[in-house]
Amino acid sequence: MGPLPAPSCTQRITWKGLLLTASLLNFWNPPTTAEVTIEAQPPKVSEGKDVLLLVHNLPQNLPGYFWYKGEMTDLYHYIISYIVDGKIIIYGPAYSGRETVYSNASLLIQNVTRKDAGTYTLHIIKRGDETREEIRHFTFTLYSKLPIPYITINNLNPRENKDVLAFTCEPKSENYTYIWWLNGQSLPVSPGVKRPIENRILILPSVTRNETGPYQCEIRDRYGGLRSNPVILNVLYGPDLPRIYPSFTYYRSGENLDLSCFTESNPPAEYFWTINGKFQQSGQKLFIPQITRNHSGLYACSVHNSATGKEISKSMTVKVSGPCHGDLTESQS
Ligand SMILES: *[C@@H]1O[C@H](CO)[C@@H](O)[C@H](O)[C@H]1NC(C)=O
Ligand SMILES: *[C@@H]1O[C@H](CO)[C@@H](O)[C@H](O)[C@H]1NC(C)=O
Ligand SMILES: *[C@@H]1O[C@H](CO)[C@@H](O)[C@H](O)[C@H]1NC(C)=O
Ligand SMILES: *[C@@H]1O[C@H](CO)[C@@H](O)[C@H](O)[C@H]1NC(C)=O
Ligand SMILES: *[C@@H]1O[C@H](CO)[C@@H](O)[C@H](O)[C@H]1NC(C)=O
Repeated sequence: MGPLPAPSCTQRITWKGLLLTASLLNFWNPPTTAEVTIEAQPPKVSEGKDVLLLVHNLPQNLPGYFWYKGEMTDLYHYIISYIVDGKIIIYGPAYSGRETVYSNASLLIQNVTRKDAGTYTLHIIKRGDETREEIRHFTFTLYSKLPIPYITINNLNPRENKDVLAFTCEPKSENYTYIWWLNGQSLPVSPGVKRPIENRILILPSVTRNETGPYQCEIRDRYGGLRSNPVILNVLYGPDLPRIYPSFTYYRSGENLDLSCFTESNPPAEYFWTINGKFQQSGQKLFIPQITRNHSGLYACSVHNSATGKEISKSMTVKVSGPCHGDLTESQS
C-alpha cells in the first residue's frame, strides 16, 4: 500500500478508510484500494441552482449511508440516510425538503440557498460491524447571488471645494460590508471621510476637479463581492485666473493687436474684454488692426462661470509708440 495520494483539488477528498486498519479488512470483501471520492457537481454553485454530491468508488455490499450537515454526526445534523435493505430512505432533523439521496450514496441538493454552503459528512455503515464506521467530510462552495449595488449621490454636479458630497451604497443590509472605490483603487479610510453607517455612506467634505471619479461601491458577504456601475461626477470649477497671449505690452503704431485669453473652467467660461474699464467686446479674442497711439491703455480680459458664479479678470497695459516720422521719411525717400 502506497501513501495516500494528495487530493487533486479542494472539492475532491480522497478516502482510503479501510486501508488504515488491518482488522477492517475482514469486513470488506474483496479488499480494495479504490479510493472513495466525493465531488460536487458543479463544484461552485450559485443560489437557486442544484448541486449533486457525487460519491465515486463506493465499495460494494454496504448496508447504508448517512449524510450530515457539518462535521458533527449527531441527530441534530442528520439530513438523510439510505438503507440498502428494503431501499429505505430516512429523513433527519436537518432535512430541508430539498435533498435526495440515491442508492449509490450520491446526494442531490435542489434550489440551493446560502445556508447550504459549507461542510457535509458522509457516514457509511459497514456490514457486520456498525461500530467501525469511517467518516469523511468535504465542503462545497456556494456563491451567493448578491444584488448589484448602486450609488445614490446628493449632488452630481458639485462645486469644487464647496459642496459636501454624500454617496450612499444601495441596497442596505446588515449582512453586507461596503467598500468604496475611486479610479479602481479602494478608498482608504481617512479622517476627512466620515463613515456613519458601516461605510455604506461616504461623505466627502469637498471635491476638486481631479476627483471626478469613477466612483464605485462594492458589497461583500462572506461568499463574495459585487461592484456597482461607475459614477462620474461633473465637478464645477473655475474660472481660474485667465492668461493673455501674447504677453508683451509694447506695440508700434500700425501693428495689429491680436490678443487671446484662456482660463480653466467647467462649464466653459464666458469671456469679455474691456479697455480702460469700458466694455469692448465679448469672446476669447480681441483683434484691432493697425493700432495707433490712442490705443494705448489698460486691457482686461474678464471670465465668468455662471454655474459657479465666479468672475475674475486679468489686465495688461498696452503701450503703442507713435509712428517714427524719421523712419517713414527715410523709407519714403
Ligand atoms: C448516482 O446516481 C445519480 C442519480 O441516478 C446519478 O446522477 C449519479 O451519476 C450516480 N453517481 C455515480 C457516481 O455514478
Ligand atoms: C425549487 O424552486 C422552484 C421554483 O421556486 C420550485 O418550483 C420547486 O418546487 C423547488 N424544488 C424543491 C425541491 O424545493
Ligand atoms: C441577513 O442574514 C440573515 C441570516 O442569513 C437573514 O435572516 C436576513 O434576512 C438577512 N438580512 C437581509 C436584510 O438580507
Ligand atoms: C489636478 O491635477 C493636476 C495634475 O496632476 C494638478 O496640477 C492640479 O494642481 C490639480 N488640481 C487640483 C485642484 O487639485
Ligand atoms: C484713435 O484715433 C483714431 C483717429 O486717428 C480714431 O478714429 C479712434 O476712434 C481713436 N481711438 C480711440 C480708442 O480713442
